This record gives sequence, C-alpha cells and structure tokens, in this order.
Amino acid sequence: MFEIHDLQVRYGAIEALKGISLEVNEGEIVTLIGANGAGKTTTLRTSSGLERAYRGKIVLNGADITRAPAQSRVKKGLVQVPEGRRVFPKMSVLENLQLGAYLHHDKAKNTKTLEQVFQRFPRLADRRRQLAGTLSGGEQQMLAMGRALMNQPKVLLLDEPSMGLAPLLVKEIFSIIRAINEAGTTVLLVEQNAHMALQIAHRAYVIETGTIVLSGKASELADSDEVKQAYLGG
Ligand SMILES: Nc1ncnc2c1ncn2[C@@H]1O[C@H](COP(=O)(O)OP(=O)(O)O)[C@@H](O)[C@H]1O
Ligand SMILES: [Mg+2]
Repeated sequence: MFEIHDLQVRYGAIEALKGISLEVNEGEIVTLIGANGAGKTTTLRTSSGLERAYRGKIVLNGADITRAPAQSRVKKGLVQVPEGRRVFPKMSVLENLQLGAYLHHDKAKNTKTLEQVFQRFPRLADRRRQLAGTLSGGEQQMLAMGRALMNQPKVLLLDEPSMGLAPLLVKEIFSIIRAINEAGTTVLLVEQNAHMALQIAHRAYVIETGTIVLSGKASELADSDEVKQAYLGG
C-alpha cells in the first residue's frame, strides 16, 4: 500500500537518508525504529512531502507520489502526525480538530468524522472547549492523532508518539494505535521506544545513520540479540 524505494535525502552536505527502502502492506502496523538522528523523522517528512527526495521513489497505492505536493498526499489518504505533536496551543481542542479537516469540504461528513474522533478519544470530547496548550502531553498526543484522523487516513504516519510520556500513557497511546489499525488504518510508526513499538507492530525496520540495517517480523526482531543489545537494553 505504501512503498519507499532507494530514498536518498540531503540537507545540504548532510546525507540524512542514504538510499532506504521499505514497504507497508494494507492493514499492517510497521515500525521504523532507530536512535536519535538516525533519519526516522526525515523518512516521514519526505513521505508526506515536507522534505524533498534527492533520489528514489515514494509510492502510495501503486501511484508514484515522489513529487506530489504535501496537500495532495493528505487528500490521497497519507497523513502524518508530526514529532512533538505541534498542536495549536492558543486554539481550543475543537478548533484544532476542525482545522485538521480543512482540506475536506463536506460538512456533514466532517461532523460525523468528528464524532468518531471523540468516540476514539473521550478525553478530547470532555475537553473540547479547552485550549490545546493547557492539555497534558498525552492529551496533546491524542489531539495530534485526532487531528490526523479528521482526514480519514488510509495510511497513518506516526512520529514518536511516545516521546516524553509517562509509561502508563505510552501504554494508552499504543493501545489506541492498535485500535485505529484494527479499525482499518494502515500504520507506519516511527519510534525510539523500540520495546513498545515491537510489541504492537507486525513488521519492523531498524535504521542507523540513514541506512536500514535490519528488517523482519517484529516478534523476531524483538528476540534477536542484535536488537536486544542495541535497542532493548541487552
Ligand atoms: N532541517 C535539517 N537541516 C539539517 N540537518 C538536518 C535537518 N533535519 C535533520 N537533520 C539531520 O539529519 C539526520 C537525521 O535526522 P532525523 O531524521 O531528524 O532523525 P531522527 O528522527 O531519527 O532523530 C540527523 O543527522 C539530523 O541532524
Ligand atoms: Mg525524529
């Protein structure tokens, strides 16, 4: 459903991605794990059209989208939740969610989608009038995910949803990711928290300094000595 072929991305002289390939099949949760600076965010930002591919190809549902504008990718169902949530702090929860749907003009449908988001995240429903900047980190992550869901994504790209959250909240966020996936959304999950990511993913890729060094079934990677030593604390 979503494929990256030999993707190379540069920031000036820095080669952030050195030709990576990965694929996400329909219905899967695939995780891309790796240390800080490995190139995870660059992979997602280039996938959603926020950074330019220097070389390589990005394919959604069989269509080459490597040069497609970011908005058109969202309309095609490829939607990203950015690293660090990036909610609008001075706007209410409701306004943030409504803004999430700004590419969609069918009001009745947006109202229905909003109801679904509130069902998925009851805490957002309770706090719909509250300013986003006053939410806890976990609630802001829910809001960022809810905002993405307003686009009814086919493929959801998540950039370190667990970052900065207490373990209990990480569990809650991950169980929501699983539920979103079970309801039919394909997920590419980027994480430094390899332990949690490998628990919910079907398959995984490991990235080190711009290169994919390992890939396979998540359960197999979680059991491998290499991954245990480098990412799971031995
Ligand atoms: N806007 C940028 N300008 C220059 N270098 C960048 C920029 N964004 C990321 N990098 C560099 O690219 C590499 C990959 O970064 P990033 O994709 O953010 O990694 P990760 O998300 O895995 O922590 C790092 O060396 C980082 O310093
Ligand atoms: Mg990152």
